[in-house]
Amino acid sequence: MLKQEFAQRILKVEESPTFALERKADELDAKLKKEGKSIIRFGIGQPDFNTPSNIKDAGKKAIDENKTKYTASTGIKELKNAIVNKFKRDNNIDYEISNILVGNGAKHVLDDIMRVLVNPGDIVIIPKPYWVSYSQQVILSEGIPEFINFKDDLKIDIEHFNYVVSKCGGSKRGGGKVKLFILNSPSNPTGVVYTRDEIEEIGEICLKNNIYIIADEVYEKFLYGGTEHYSIASFSSELKSITITINAVSKTYAMTGWRIGYCGADSRIIKQMTKVQDQSTSNPCSIAQWAALEALSGSQDSVEVMRREYEKRRDYIYSRISSIDGMKCALPEGAFYIFPKVSNFFGGKIKDSFDFADLLLEEANVAVVPGGAFGADEYIRISYATSMENIKEGLNRIEEFIYTVSK
Ligand SMILES: Cc1ncc(COP(=O)(O)O)c(C=O)c1O
Repeated sequence: MLKQEFAQRILKVEESPTFALERKADELDAKLKKEGKSIIRFGIGQPDFNTPSNIKDAGKKAIDENKTKYTASTGIKELKNAIVNKFKRDNNIDYEISNILVGNGAKHVLDDIMRVLVNPGDIVIIPKPYWVSYSQQVILSEGIPEFINFKDDLKIDIEHFNYVVSKCGGSKRGGGKVKLFILNSPSNPTGVVYTRDEIEEIGEICLKNNIYIIADEVYEKFLYGGTEHYSIASFSSELKSITITINAVSKTYAMTGWRIGYCGADSRIIKQMTKVQDQSTSNPCSIAQWAALEALSGSQDSVEVMRREYEKRRDYIYSRISSIDGMKCALPEGAFYIFPKVSNFFGGKIKDSFDFADLLLEEANVAVVPGGAFGADEYIRISYATSMENIKEGLNRIEEFIYTVSK
């Protein structure tokens, strides 16, 4: 091929660390299998449950009824209506069908938004620790990710947020504007859930400084210990008008492979996002859309079954990790991740979270994601979307590993 053939923007984009970790774990797993051993995977954020049968049946029925042709590029009316009802029922947000767009997973919907709102040089504010794709999508749209520090409780440092907004001139810096703020609650990678007051405070700053808000709520159904989820778009019509509320069936209904995500937003934003999907992907899979319709409008019992199981695992994993000397950990209130601090074990062979994760994989055969990948190098992310049996064995191995590295 020719030299210098790639666009500059793609050369700036990093590989997904979670997918890279999975590949590494796969390679090692193939070797270990021959020795009768295996890896405990706490890496990828993917429910270990199967898609509930009522949803699978709706997908099969769609095939049998030949619902296999192109649909409107932003989704079938039936699904959009179900999403309008869902936003009303679960989030107390009044959207109409013109406010709804369906895409190929929340990740795709997020990418549509970046393309529609971010000009080259525009700033997107992302609180650390962040889900890995946000910053890379900003870079793909030639924007600039600007990161906000976090406090000991892993929540946003509001003072730093205010400082960054004012440093960036409220709007102008390097020719671009502060365009967007990303709020992810419950959070990947920390499991943190923001309270109503905290969300209100964030909303005020965004309103005052004319900053759009992306509210990524894909983990809203996985809440523990009576914690509540609040949707910022439900707080006022002003906040609703500057917020794009993102969700997906991926995590809630164990449907990661079906690739259906959606959002609610001002219809003028949806109109521009529609152009992106018209010209890039056309509709998300027609069969998956019919299955998603059943997910959102059929029985919700399976969601509670999964939530309860995640809560049991959270309680177990939290108590085990808290009992390990030197491993500090905040109690996650949502999602299916726990984010322990491991910097006490840095020194010698382990210089950072990447070394920690590498060594843990090689020596104890446990896969975790280094916190450095989320902008928080003193931590690691453990996903507990895996069986209790795996969690127990994985924690035994982690304990033993820590014992050896602490010696
Ligand atoms: C916070 C967050 N947002 C969005 C996504 C993407 O979801 P989907 O699989 O629907 O694209 C993920 C997936 O890991 C996530 O953790």
